[in-house]
Amino acid sequence: MTDNNLRDDWWKQAVVYQVYPRSFKDSDGDGLGDIAGVTEKIPYLKALGVDAIWLSPFYPSALADGGYDIIDYRNVDPRLGTMKDFDDMEKAAHRSGIKIVVDIVPNHTSNEHVWFKQALADGRGSAARERYIFKEGSGPNGEFPPNDWGSLFGGPAWERVDDGQWYLHIFAKEQPDLNWNNPEVHEEFKKTLRFWADHGADGFRVDVAHGLAKKLDGASMKDLSRWTVHDSLCHDGTHPLWDRAQVHDIYREWRQVFNEYTPHRFAVGEAWVVPEHQYLYASPDELGQVFNFEFAKANWDSSAMRTAITEGLKAAERSGSTPTWVMSNHDVPRHASRYGLPQVPSQAHHQLAKDWLLRDGTSYYEDRDLGTKRARAAIMMEAALPGSVYVYQGEELGLFEVANIPWDRLEDPTPFKTRYNFTDKGRDGCRVPLPWDNADMPRAATWDASFGAGASFGFSPKTKADGTVSAEAHLPQPLWFKDFAVNAEDDDSGSMLNLYRRCLELRAQMLTPTQLSTIDWLDLGSQVIAYARKASDDSGFQQIVSVTNFGNEPVELPKGKVLLSSQTLPQDGTIPQDVTVWIAR
Ligand code: NOJ
Repeated sequence: MTDNNLRDDWWKQAVVYQVYPRSFKDSDGDGLGDIAGVTEKIPYLKALGVDAIWLSPFYPSALADGGYDIIDYRNVDPRLGTMKDFDDMEKAAHRSGIKIVVDIVPNHTSNEHVWFKQALADGRGSAARERYIFKEGSGPNGEFPPNDWGSLFGGPAWERVDDGQWYLHIFAKEQPDLNWNNPEVHEEFKKTLRFWADHGADGFRVDVAHGLAKKLDGASMKDLSRWTVHDSLCHDGTHPLWDRAQVHDIYREWRQVFNEYTPHRFAVGEAWVVPEHQYLYASPDELGQVFNFEFAKANWDSSAMRTAITEGLKAAERSGSTPTWVMSNHDVPRHASRYGLPQVPSQAHHQLAKDWLLRDGTSYYEDRDLGTKRARAAIMMEAALPGSVYVYQGEELGLFEVANIPWDRLEDPTPFKTRYNFTDKGRDGCRVPLPWDNADMPRAATWDASFGAGASFGFSPKTKADGTVSAEAHLPQPLWFKDFAVNAEDDDSGSMLNLYRRCLELRAQMLTPTQLSTIDWLDLGSQVIAYARKASDDSGFQQIVSVTNFGNEPVELPKGKVLLSSQTLPQDGTIPQDVTVWIAR
């Protein structure tokens, strides 16, 4: 096998594991996951077969948005550790052949960032205000916001400060938007990129990558009401906020920085733009890769999934990059739950899942066996595709969304501070601390018998360094997590964890990493997704075929050697519904 450390383009076909640091592993007993917790679990990640870890923000933050409100871009939140902890983690990961990807949040800072504090202190017209987007209000005394934009998290997108000016915040009001027309902002972020690259980061995940190049001056200011903040997918390049041509200048600039390093650093952009524009962000002279969220958006339906694959491959080919595949992340309900809810067309399904969450998981029946079966089939369908697979922590355990977190325990701002005003349950259900060990079994909490109190399934150590009992996990863990703890799944050959391990191992052994974003589609009917890839030279086979049957009619098993199947196959040579099989031939 090729040495991962020597392959400069490793990221083009990597398995990247997303760590949401506050909920991955707590090493010191304060109930919050931390960097040393990641180091502790590197052997686990190695055994899982991942090539890289992407860490969601672990920087000092006031936690108005799960860490996406950053106070200091070049440091570790003291609750999560120190720079030394980061360096230790980086070294341990690299020793195991695992790369590190850090999150860069360039659209906005925290309102507690030193720049923003200075902008408030220095007042109107100051150089410090020029780093953000301050405007005069409308109305006779400027008492109304400059326009009627609503923030993506709800409420107005403008907040008034003491001297009467308003600043733009596309997300929470604690996340003021930066002014990327200011060269100082450019210099600051290049410094941040170099800082983390010097500390061993191999790549960057770029938050809201399509939003930086805003045009809110002069005539465009008068135009503001033509658009809403929500129009990011419906544009022709003239939206003052989203997907403007100028945003690409920023990434071309960043590319120069990435290429100062050997091997060149890469980045993956979070860009919610029309599929026809995605490739621009991924091009080799810009970020290199872009998230394709089509799997995360599609419900369990062969035609939606086929479109997701076709579009993903097409966009990658156009950019000269490779595709990315994402079923879950820290922003969407876990897919094992989504696939177990009633299946309606994808757009409506998103709404259905939201409604189900809003009603604490009671408004629709969540068929967990079905969700699990489909999630097993899904990872196999995904993992044989060319490109990079992004795995969100806990999906390898088959975790479901925790839909009934008590409202007074929620941390995500979206349910409260927003226009949704208790009409959206937010994103905490997929951010619950992972269960590592069910010998460390919590007792039923008195406030809600379905959740645990006391112990934390090994998420935290039993005691802190000073011998006192560890704090409770920052979000409550349901008691059903006991069946999904790593130790329980370790011992069960049929567990989701062991399927992920085997699947990722076979992917690494049997498939040739390819620069090409193509597959050979096989036509086994409209209810089947079947494709072939070239097998690796030392596998002893020509082709690896992946077949997923979505329909209720069994499908004939293609000839060849069955390498892996998501369920035990029947003896009659068929593939039942909701099952994926890999065949070597
Ligand atoms: C996208 C991140 O994934 C999400 O969690 C965050 O709330 C927004 N960007 C704002 O930074």
